[in-house]
Amino acid sequence: MKKIMMTAVVLSSVLFAQSAEELIDANGCLACHAVASKKAAPAFAGIGKRNKRFEGSDAKATIMNSIKNGSSGKYPMFADSAMPAFPNFSQEELSTLADYILAQSSIAKGKGMGQGRGMGMGRGMQ
Ligand code: HEC
Repeated sequence: MKKIMMTAVVLSSVLFAQSAEELIDANGCLACHAVASKKAAPAFAGIGKRNKRFEGSDAKATIMNSIKNGSSGKYPMFADSAMPAFPNFSQEELSTLADYILAQSSIAKGKGMGQGRGMGMGRGMQ
């Protein structure tokens, strides 16, 4: 019984560590990205929107691939910068991140994207 309890505790901490916010915080994504406002890289909300529009049903796979292998040249505003590759994420982690990023697209409302929601600038620098 004790062993089962221990396993449950370990499992839940692993699951917690795999939430999209945790992965994003732990891997420094917010040094370049913000969720809803432009920073040194496109906002996650804008990325979700763009991929839904241009990739359709491939949106998730495209996002997972870009995180794993890096990306450059897709977002002309950020032509001077590139998305580094993160080859160490598992498929499951990539999937969690892609779902999260796609879910943010609903909070991007046209021009409002540039306004952010107060969670953009500097949050990743702390
Ligand atoms: C050094 C700055 C930097 C860091 C750190 C960074 N990114 Fe990026 N990211 C970029 C830039 C710049 C682009 C735009 C690339 C382009 O134009 O193709 C980008 C693009 C993306 C895209 C869009 C790719 C596409 O195909 O549409 C996703 C998704 C993404 N980043 C996720 C992440 C995640 C998740 C992390 C953390 C694990 C992260 N980024 C960390 C700079 C960064």
